[in-house]
Amino acid sequence: MTEQSPALDNLLTESRTFPPSEAFSAQANATADFYAEADADREAFWAKQADRLHWDTKWSQVLDWTNAPVAKWFVGGKLNVAYNCVDRHVDGGHGDQVAIHWVGEPGDNRDITYAQLKDEVSKAANAFESLGLTAGDRVAIQMPMVPEAIFAMLACARIGVLHSVVFGGFSPTALRSRVDDQAARIVITTDGQYRRGKAAPMKVNVDEALEGAESVEKVIVVRRTGDEVPITEGRDLWWHELVDGQSAEHAPQAFDSEHPLFILYTSGTTGKPKGILHTSGGYLTQAAYTHHNVFDHKAGEDVYWCTADIGWITGHTYIVYGPLANRTTQVVYEGTPNTPHEGRHWEIVQQHKVSIYYTAPTLIRTFMKWGNEIPEKYDLSSLRVLGSVGEPINPEAWIWYRENVGANSAPIVDTWWQTETGGIMISPLPGVTATKPGSAQKALPGISAKVVDDQGVEVGKGGGGYLVLDKPWPGMLRGIWGDEERFRDTYWSRFRDQGYYFAGDGAKYDADGDVWLLGRVDDVMNVSGHRISTTEVESALVSHPTVAEAAVVGATDPTTGQGIVAFVILRGNAAATLKSGGDSAGQDAVQELRNHVAKEIGPIAKPRQILVVQELPKTRSGKIMRRLLRDVAENRQVGDVTTLADSSVMDLISTGLKTGK
Ligand code: WT7
Repeated sequence: MTEQSPALDNLLTESRTFPPSEAFSAQANATADFYAEADADREAFWAKQADRLHWDTKWSQVLDWTNAPVAKWFVGGKLNVAYNCVDRHVDGGHGDQVAIHWVGEPGDNRDITYAQLKDEVSKAANAFESLGLTAGDRVAIQMPMVPEAIFAMLACARIGVLHSVVFGGFSPTALRSRVDDQAARIVITTDGQYRRGKAAPMKVNVDEALEGAESVEKVIVVRRTGDEVPITEGRDLWWHELVDGQSAEHAPQAFDSEHPLFILYTSGTTGKPKGILHTSGGYLTQAAYTHHNVFDHKAGEDVYWCTADIGWITGHTYIVYGPLANRTTQVVYEGTPNTPHEGRHWEIVQQHKVSIYYTAPTLIRTFMKWGNEIPEKYDLSSLRVLGSVGEPINPEAWIWYRENVGANSAPIVDTWWQTETGGIMISPLPGVTATKPGSAQKALPGISAKVVDDQGVEVGKGGGGYLVLDKPWPGMLRGIWGDEERFRDTYWSRFRDQGYYFAGDGAKYDADGDVWLLGRVDDVMNVSGHRISTTEVESALVSHPTVAEAAVVGATDPTTGQGIVAFVILRGNAAATLKSGGDSAGQDAVQELRNHVAKEIGPIAKPRQILVVQELPKTRSGKIMRRLLRDVAENRQVGDVTTLADSSVMDLISTGLKTGK
């Protein structure tokens, strides 16, 4: 027997660090003491964070973990989540502050103050009650990024109804399975949505989805594109007819801290989507605490912009609940980043003087591909904090972000979390942490995470393994809707003896003990007995000046077990040079990339094959679907593509490879 190999090899090292400036640190919300304070008494620390909310009844116990893994936080406390996000700020004299600078894709705008938000949410709450909705009922929402989507979510929260937002790009089948799983009584949608400059239908898809759906009593339709839509008499109602005439007075009722707030489905890679359940007091506490400290947000001063869609958890926690609980003025943008041109985001930053910008690595790499000259044309000097979420950010993309968007000074917070965690878990604190490109670094004060081996034993510095969360946290999921067994199986069985939550991600510690996320463990490659992370090889490829994006998979190999196959997208000018140079230029470029990986990581990680492609298969939230690339690499029929953002991408890759284009 050979010596047991580590759960994950640690191959790539990155030594650049960026300490915060003194000026930033001096004004930062977070201080280094937070870590010690939280370590000394975690529950007292979280109790203090919960105090940033308005509680109608104070809790009697911070945490009840006796029924683990189902936690109760702020036991006995009562609050209204919508009151906390809206009315409280109006009562505090900030009714005239803009809550939302809404930017429509075609160029229309709406500024909504906190006072107006209170009126809209109250009217919608009255309307929902007029339809007979009561606390505990479920409402499904499939809408583009229009203000009514946020009004609807908050109106549900206000009356204790669970919302379940389904991403606007999901198919009728996907919507239907989610509606059925939760037995939603009401579905809210729009007539259509703007996508890439064109009006696309929405309501007709919802109609198709709901054919014969027994639980659904009413469908509420917001007018957005003005396109004509079929109306089912007795079932369908126009939002403006139902809501606009309602009273703007609505008394918020206090709900138990553990009252369910929403269900959000995550597809995962296989199987039926999981309805992740979140509750009120703990979730809102973590949302507000993390938004305040991780983004260094200053109410009434900053202009914040999170580019996510409300169909994802990032939109729930960092557009709706966290920012509004903290009285944020934020930009909400309806459209795509290249409509009508590739500078749209920077134009919005310039116009609204956005100071905090939170986006995903996939978009940062797309900006890199589009070229530095695009952000250069705009005044981005208002930006003072930049965030990243969704995937590991490759060091080179991080550096690009810092140099081209952050003027070499704005701290970058690489925030690791999941739909299941409810809020940010691992991240630098701006003004406190010396940041490192590519590393999420440290569990936040109050949060505890570890990297462990197969046996659940923590690995040492420089070691790799599995990321676990070893202590309960306020925003944690309280279950999977209707399936407690799956909840225990998926997250709590892998390290049952230790009682750890298994996140499904590979991770390592560097020499300083900072955490690096290495991608989903399902994607880990095994080459000659070495467990190699896809993330590290991808980052090595992206660190080459010609590469904009890379996706790496392990394909069965007769000698090494698995061989590394890389798919790369070249940057604009490199792609053009390659095209004009013919076959031999292509071979040279590929050889150079293989050598580059060998140099950055070591010969063991040298890709067996590198394929230049135009696009990569991504989910609608921007994650690369390596499973499909494995099919290509192993010459198999490509599997289920229904969760792809653009299902034609796989055809493009397969035919491109056959014809050598
Ligand atoms: C998975 C969760 C959390 C909101 C968006 C995604 C990956 C997320 C990072 C990061 C490395 C990250 C993980 C995680 N992930 N953020 N900063 N560094 N990986 O939510 O769809 O539930 O996905 O996204 O693999 O497990 P989600």
